[in-house]
Amino acid sequence: ARVLTVLGLETSCDETAASVVRQMPDGAVQVLSSVVHSQIAEHAPFGGVVPEIAARSHVEAIAGTVRRAMEQSGVDFEGLDAVAATAGPGLVGGVMVGLSFGKAVALARGIPLIAVNHLEGHAVSARLAAPAPYPFLLLLVSGGHCQLMEVRGIGHMTRLGATIDDAAGEAFDKIAKTLGLGYPGGPALEKLAATGDGARFDLPRALLGRKGCDFSFSGLKTAAAKLAATCETDQDRADLADAVQKAIARQLTERSARAMDDYGTRHEHRLLVVAGGVAANRTVRTELERAATACGFEFMAPPLAYCTDNAAMIALAGAERLALGLVSDIDVAARPRWPL
Ligand code: KG4
Ligand code: ZN
Repeated sequence: ARVLTVLGLETSCDETAASVVRQMPDGAVQVLSSVVHSQIAEHAPFGGVVPEIAARSHVEAIAGTVRRAMEQSGVDFEGLDAVAATAGPGLVGGVMVGLSFGKAVALARGIPLIAVNHLEGHAVSARLAAPAPYPFLLLLVSGGHCQLMEVRGIGHMTRLGATIDDAAGEAFDKIAKTLGLGYPGGPALEKLAATGDGARFDLPRALLGRKGCDFSFSGLKTAAAKLAATCETDQDRADLADAVQKAIARQLTERSARAMDDYGTRHEHRLLVVAGGVAANRTVRTELERAATACGFEFMAPPLAYCTDNAAMIALAGAERLALGLVSDIDVAARPRWPL
């Protein structure tokens, strides 16, 4: 084992991000820099991410973002062992920008290119801040994904359950919209919920009692939209936001508890990790931690900055792949869909 220093690039949605991460021979991780250039202001007037605007914006921001990440890291291009870039899944116009940039750096420096699955990045994100030994049970909850996975190591991940309709972050975003909140809806809804009490609303509990660990948010979305239309005051809306947040957290917790029951019979080391943008939600984190403790599991959630999209998680996935010799071909393709 040797010291590995990797530049990571992330451009699959609405953040242009670059980061330099160093992995020590003993596995310890140092994030030397993590720069995130958010496009939120450019998409906000449209109420969501506009793919064409995102792709153009990545082209404008990528070089400056990489330069800042390199400067802040104190490492120069000669000091890099590899470059890792998100190759999918995501908005393919954006993915192509980061991946092409990564190819150019790899070619110019004569270092390996590592194409990283965005979901694998989220899966290792908790390891940026603290040792999360493999294997672990992962709840991945973001704007595009909602799934439970058994993570045995890099490249060895098995899906145990997934949403049959919307992702959890998507549910947050859509319901926030019906409450008149701006994009992105998740953080806005959490803020509104802080002043509300959802006890008076009775929202549906999806798939309750059903076997397996799949998720569904469409019933909740429909019910919330109906109730939102009846809200008259800001207090009504805050109460509904609180009820919605609790309902989403409850479903995530119930399905995770089911997965923990099953996982616990097959593994001695019991660790539940949550990752993805929705892992930034305080109610979600608290409820999951409580359930984990009740199931005899340890619980880990990444620091907030590593929950939402960032390039440090891509760099770390790249470093772990490099250590295993899993490098990519220079003509690797961008993939809009790429299930783990
Ligand atoms: O992981 P991420 O940055 O991008 C994807 O890969 O999708 O996740 C973004 C999602 C959005 O749906 C956003 O509304 C949600 O995560 N999100 C939150 C919070 N922060 C971000 N949802 C609820 N509460 C939050 N605090
Ligand atoms: Zn993501």
